[in-house]
Amino acid sequence: MEIMTDLKQAIDTRRTFAIISHPDAGKTTITEQMLLLGGVVRSAGTVKGRQGNFAKSDWMEIEQKRGISVTSSVLQFDYDGKRINILDTPGHEDFSEDTYRTLMAVDSVIMVVDSAKGIEPQTRKLFEIVKERHIPIFTFFNKLDRDGRPAMDLVDELEETLGINAYPMNWPIGSGQVLSGLFDIYHQQVEVYRPASEDERFLPLNAAGDDLTQPNAIQQTPVWKEAREEVELLQDAGNAFNEDAVLKGELTPVFFGSALAGFGLETFLQTYLQFAPAPAPKKTTDQQVIEPDQAEFSGFVFKIQANMNPNHRDRIAFVRIVSGEFERGMDVTLQRTAKKMRLSNVTQFMADSRENVENAVPGDIIGVYDTGSFQIGDTIYAGKKSIEFEELPTFTPELFMHVRAKNVLKQKSFHKGVTQLVQEGTIQMYTAWDSGDYILGAVGQLQFEVFQFRMENEYNSEVILEPMGSKIARWVSEDQLDSKMASSRNLLARDRHGNPVFLFENMFAERWFEDKYPNVKLETKL
Ligand code: G4P
Repeated sequence: MEIMTDLKQAIDTRRTFAIISHPDAGKTTITEQMLLLGGVVRSAGTVKGRQGNFAKSDWMEIEQKRGISVTSSVLQFDYDGKRINILDTPGHEDFSEDTYRTLMAVDSVIMVVDSAKGIEPQTRKLFEIVKERHIPIFTFFNKLDRDGRPAMDLVDELEETLGINAYPMNWPIGSGQVLSGLFDIYHQQVEVYRPASEDERFLPLNAAGDDLTQPNAIQQTPVWKEAREEVELLQDAGNAFNEDAVLKGELTPVFFGSALAGFGLETFLQTYLQFAPAPAPKKTTDQQVIEPDQAEFSGFVFKIQANMNPNHRDRIAFVRIVSGEFERGMDVTLQRTAKKMRLSNVTQFMADSRENVENAVPGDIIGVYDTGSFQIGDTIYAGKKSIEFEELPTFTPELFMHVRAKNVLKQKSFHKGVTQLVQEGTIQMYTAWDSGDYILGAVGQLQFEVFQFRMENEYNSEVILEPMGSKIARWVSEDQLDSKMASSRNLLARDRHGNPVFLFENMFAERWFEDKYPNVKLETKL
């Protein structure tokens, strides 16, 4: 009984989330500020210099410069009585299906937006996945120390382009040169930018929430009046705060601040942690709900990272724990193969780990060393009762390449490699309808690079990749299909389950097709 109470308590402290943003919005800077607040690093602002740096991920940059044990995928640290797990969602050239899949392993998401730029394409893509899954999402408009777009415009754009309601938790008093502070609507106080003394950092608001209780110089700034009027407008005409709507992902609490100046970030993190949900239960394929505090351990694999160093062929399977307690050396079953295995070679991801953590609970991520047993989406569980978590979604690829073996005599290793890497979720496979030629599909260029590298190094198969550029994949049902519908602008292919799919050259080709065959239904995914 005692163990169960401990487990419950431990679960309650977990907050597992991802930060999504468009490149350069400030994800790395915010992550670093959080590490600073968590006492993991001592000073901020120096990790970025990119010169002479060949690191792939921003977190690897942090790791190299700081010498702390950050892996490129998971960061765990303690703050304010909570144990935080931040999962990396690589952008830039590292964008891949892994980025999407990571969102299947978090309980909430922080969306960072550059307040000079507003909502940008990569944020929108990631947001769509978050929305589909009803994951609670918290918005941080960054770079307030720079001249940005008016706050009202930013919030309107957020609501309109993303189709979500917003609730500003705070509101900027000026920006750029004239940034004076934040109207902290939620805490009924003003947070002063660069206060003369620490005592003046937070100034309480009156009961109406529209003025300070004590006169202060900030009230003399020209931007004060404007901010006050806007806050009044929000109070009269804006959305009401509703925690339930936040937890359903229908309302996003909005914060403003500057990660670089460390302004507004601490309040943001504290408030975020107050509302961000603890680890959620998860459904199985037979519609059972596995509660985190149930005694038997279970988890699922959401990412497999192959070691790109040819001397170390090992891979790490990233497992999100769903229920029970993980203990090093425990026996589990891999549901797909019914194979039993002992989890002894496991890493955990404490950012400043001086001691070796031996156990982990729901919400935590463990990295299991893998010699090829795991696939993305696999369930592992302890105990006798077999469970299988619902399948992870696949994501519609946007980039395509023809692929063939360089050496025609080495077809066997080529096929073996392709089959295994596709099964593992590294890349998606299609075949041209007529010729049967192999076509690879991916959401990010990196996936092709990883595929090519692993084919050579693990399967001894050199491949020739011919870019086909970006395409729009649309599925059709076989009974509506006539192979004459295919053309050079809409290539007909089969997905790996044999379903017909058109790869359109661009939006115009798709529209042309829709006009020509109005009765044929094009599906964006299966
Ligand atoms: P990312 O991980 O989302 O790609 O963004 P990152 O944190 O790397 O930030 C991108 C750039 O924006 C960096 O500048 C960073 O210093 C800057 N930045 C982040 N937050 C703020 C902020 O609140 N205010 C301002 N003014 N700038 C911010 P850089 O030029 O790429 O690097 P650096 O040479 O300035 O370090």
